Amino acid sequence: MKKFSKQKTTIIVVLLLILVFLGLGMYWFINRNQAQEKADDKRNEQVSTKKVKNLNRSHVLIVYFSRSGQNYPGVNLKRGNTARIADEIKKVTGAQTFEIKPRVAYPKSYDKTVSQAEREQKNKARPKIKGELPKVSKYDTIFLGYPIWWDDIPMIVRTFMDQVDLNNKTIIPFSTNASSGWGKSLNTIHSVFPKAKLKKGFEIKGENAASAKAKVDSWLHDLGY
Ligand SMILES: Cc1cc2nc3c(=O)[nH]c(=O)nc-3n(C[C@H](O)[C@H](O)[C@H](O)COP(=O)(O)O)c2cc1C
Repeated sequence: MKKFSKQKTTIIVVLLLILVFLGLGMYWFINRNQAQEKADDKRNEQVSTKKVKNLNRSHVLIVYFSRSGQNYPGVNLKRGNTARIADEIKKVTGAQTFEIKPRVAYPKSYDKTVSQAEREQKNKARPKIKGELPKVSKYDTIFLGYPIWWDDIPMIVRTFMDQVDLNNKTIIPFSTNASSGWGKSLNTIHSVFPKAKLKKGFEIKGENAASAKAKVDSWLHDLGY
């Protein structure tokens, strides 16, 4: 009787051990598969995000106007304020850039430029742009950058807007100013391109443009870049 129960105990222990090993084996197998699946999903996700980013980049164009040189009496800018924002957008999105340059440069003097810009706005002038314009039909998203001049978009940017059709495209405005915020500029964009989709833009005081990297990056991040 004693012998039988000893044998029985041994068999039960062996069976239990087999069960434990089987259980551990199954656990390891399932875990390994799940980890493998997760790794595959992550890799696929990275590949498709990369694809989307590349795809987006090739359809995005940054167009901007900015005036370097004397900004305010005593303030000389090597690079214009709006140009600095454009540089950061380019860095983050990798998009193509087109800088609107006047065929006849604006005066070096700030005051003379202010007077000229006032006349241009009063006369609804369309100052000529240097060089060829980009073929905007290739792009579906346009970042449009400008300084506020007399509470609105500089007339040289209006020249650009007259010569391209941005209806049915996405326009993302960005702007620098002394104190006017957007001024009338968003209304102007909407009135020229009523069928464009106007996305959340970025506006900042010119004096803060050089240190705006973090703000620009966060705005772009919110837009999906
Ligand atoms: C001709 C001219 C007109 C301006 N008019 C305004 C204005 O109405 N409101 C404002 O806040 N700033 C005005 N400014 C200031 C500019 O918007 C500001 O300095 C801007 O950052 C300049 O950008 P930029 O360096 O890219 O040209 C004016 C500047 C100039 C040269």
